[in-house]
Amino acid sequence: MKKLYIAANWKANKTWEEVSAWVKTFLETYQKVADLEIILCPSFIYLSQVKQLINMYKAACVLGAQDISPFPKGAYTGEVTGEQIKEYADFVIIGHSERRGHVGETDDLLEKKVAKAIEYNLTPIFCAQDENTPIPDSVSIIAYEPVSAIGTGNADTPENANKVAKEIKEKKPNAKYLLYGGSVTKENVGSFITQGHIDGVLVGKASLDPLEFCSIIHNAKK
Ligand code: PGA
Repeated sequence: MKKLYIAANWKANKTWEEVSAWVKTFLETYQKVADLEIILCPSFIYLSQVKQLINMYKAACVLGAQDISPFPKGAYTGEVTGEQIKEYADFVIIGHSERRGHVGETDDLLEKKVAKAIEYNLTPIFCAQDENTPIPDSVSIIAYEPVSAIGTGNADTPENANKVAKEIKEKKPNAKYLLYGGSVTKENVGSFITQGHIDGVLVGKASLDPLEFCSIIHNAKK
């Protein structure tokens, strides 16, 4: 069976006390599900500690970063490089509409970030806002995230998400996995996952509660 990806994007939420409580509750509740890859994406500063907890609990989940520097190591104050991220994480979210909107990230910059991720053996989860978003050819995991659905409680319809997923896969032969993101909840996750062209979900707000995120995982069945 094809693998499904369930990713938690915590964005700029949680202090260390909250992160450690989340991870402990989650890891005590979560039952491993075959063929599901669970990716936790905390802020950079918690990658190392969350990794330690994952190892301690021997948990079947991996880490993703929420961003990556387009630069090599060196005199780039404030940047976090692929080489540094790779010590803890396997994935990196690139091209989220919040970074395009709030930080002004451009298609050109995102291409450089994808190239850096690949150079350091990190798998980009590249966010596309619609079927016309420019996507670098090398990416294999794409998250279709319509801006109107992010954080609004107004998810796309599973049928439309599936249609866009199909269009993106047709345009991008290397796009093996297409995730849907935007107001995913434990109630609606099944309706997205059962669509033929959708291979997982990227979850923001609903991933902030460990029990809700566990329910999302357990309801994510093809
Ligand atoms: P949301 O965010 O689940 O809170 O809508 C999704 C995302 O931005 O990845």
